[in-house]
Amino acid sequence: MEVVILDGADSIGALAADAITDLLKRRPEAVLGLATGSSPLAIYDELARRCAAGEVSFKSARGFTLDEYVGLAADHPQRYRNVIETELVSRLDFAPGAVQGPDGLADDIPAACAAYETAIADAGGIDLQILGIGTDGHIGFNEPGSSLASRTRIKTLTPQTRLDNARFFDGDLDAVPTHCLTQGLATIMSARHVVLVATGHGKAEAVHHLAEGAVSAMWPATILQHHPHTTVLLDDAAAGRLQLASHYRSTYRAKPPWQGI
Ligand code: GLP
Repeated sequence: MEVVILDGADSIGALAADAITDLLKRRPEAVLGLATGSSPLAIYDELARRCAAGEVSFKSARGFTLDEYVGLAADHPQRYRNVIETELVSRLDFAPGAVQGPDGLADDIPAACAAYETAIADAGGIDLQILGIGTDGHIGFNEPGSSLASRTRIKTLTPQTRLDNARFFDGDLDAVPTHCLTQGLATIMSARHVVLVATGHGKAEAVHHLAEGAVSAMWPATILQHHPHTTVLLDDAAAGRLQLASHYRSTYRAKPPWQGI
């Protein structure tokens, strides 16, 4: 796991966008794993700027979102399909239908989850997965206690996550769904490169466990310690509880600039 501590969201967005731009140059038909939440927004803004400037194209690329609320109406602005459309897809040049998400309105939820796993596998797997992290260490919506070997399935959201996400529902906790569909931890682990972004003091404890804690279902993101290519991009506040912060900083400073993440 490479931990990179940068001076703010813009630097994080630029570095992650560099990795995606390089990937698409090498492999225009690359498959991206896309996350919602506020953490990836600086990446998406930078990708939109580069796409408008003709510096990168998503014409042949595909995307799979991480997770989805169960039961939100098709036109609900917080339905993750709609969020990813607004925040990202509408600002890039993906081909129509190139970005998919789990179907939180499916009648047969287990079948929809299995179909989603098949769709990812049929696309050749995810080349680069963008991730945020919840304050309780969840990735996607794999809450504490999730099986470390899980695949896409339905999960119950914890009270903490519903509280954290109420800000997207005008602060109305009752409006936050109780269930979600999420790629499992094993699904996420199958991605070839994982880029996890965290900013702000609120993420410091989860980041401490992620990078330096014991691997445990109680902090689901810790499974990434077993991933061969995970990059964790942090600002100073999110890195605030890392014991080895100065080592991560000096290691990254000494890295040749052409090497990337
Ligand atoms: C939600 C999403 C996660 C995201 C997390 C953190 O629960 N399902 O994928 O990583 O929130 O969100 P934020 O980046 O807004 O802090």
